Amino acid sequence: TTQPTTTPTPSPNATGIIVIGMAGSGKTTFMQRLNSYLHTSAHKQPYILNLDPAVTHLPFSANIDIRDTVDYAEVMKQYNLGPNGGILTALNLFTTKFDQVLGLVEKRATEVDYVLLDTPGQIEIFTWSASGAIITDAMASALPTCVAYIIDTPRTTSPATFMSNMLYACSILYKTRLPFILVFNKTDVQPHSFALEWMRDFEAFQEALLSRRNEGGEDGPGYMDSLMNSMSLVLDEFYKHLRAVGVSAMTGEGMPEFFQAVDEAREEYLKDY
Ligand code: GTP
Repeated sequence: TTQPTTTPTPSPNATGIIVIGMAGSGKTTFMQRLNSYLHTSAHKQPYILNLDPAVTHLPFSANIDIRDTVDYAEVMKQYNLGPNGGILTALNLFTTKFDQVLGLVEKRATEVDYVLLDTPGQIEIFTWSASGAIITDAMASALPTCVAYIIDTPRTTSPATFMSNMLYACSILYKTRLPFILVFNKTDVQPHSFALEWMRDFEAFQEALLSRRNEGGEDGPGYMDSLMNSMSLVLDEFYKHLRAVGVSAMTGEGMPEFFQAVDEAREEYLKDY
């Protein structure tokens, strides 16, 4: 008699990294850097998924590429859509096949150290769509997964911009509920020490906000002061739940620190999820 064979659930050695960032934050360059770093360091090669249907040139090769399944230009034509509608619809169509994709990822998750997921260049298409949520949840249920949120550090030095960017990051944490890494990119141009200081010292940040307002730089109605106070309190709470690293996708600075943060995020996932 033959015993019924059951497929054992793979115990994933791999950690999933979902790379999210505003357009221009350096997401693509960062992905390329992760890829080349992992090829040269002691790690195994990563398994890469590209979810950006509109990218014309990927400077790294993806194991699974949305563009192989969905022709974004054709989707735009067929459904009479503009560029953003086209990208969103392409992502929706791809998501209907994501169980197959996940099967491939699960198979490889025992062999590789990292599964990298590159998201569409327009951040909200991934962060504010049902498809983005479905893909995120599917990844996170298959293997320990974290979110790497890429920040354009030189463009975030003004306190008000910094706060907006952090609130956006906070909303992504709230939606995904996954271990979170703030990646301050482009440190070759602008060191991220100011950001660490603002994150560590609530009063230093409030002072920075206030002095900008007093200079007349970011003037506004009176209620803004108390709104800003409340928002910076929210952020203070947010900072307790994440890691922050500075990197330069251009020079490769900060890569070991980034992977250390990923290891910590994996620990957090294994403990809490
Ligand atoms: P997509 O939206 O997916 O196209 O990626 P992206 O626009 O977020 O970033 P991309 O990698 O195209 O980078 C945007 C610009 O920032 C490019 O001009 C990059 O050369 C530049 N850049 C990216 N990373 C760094 C960095 O670490 N240092 C410096 N100085 N420039 C960077």
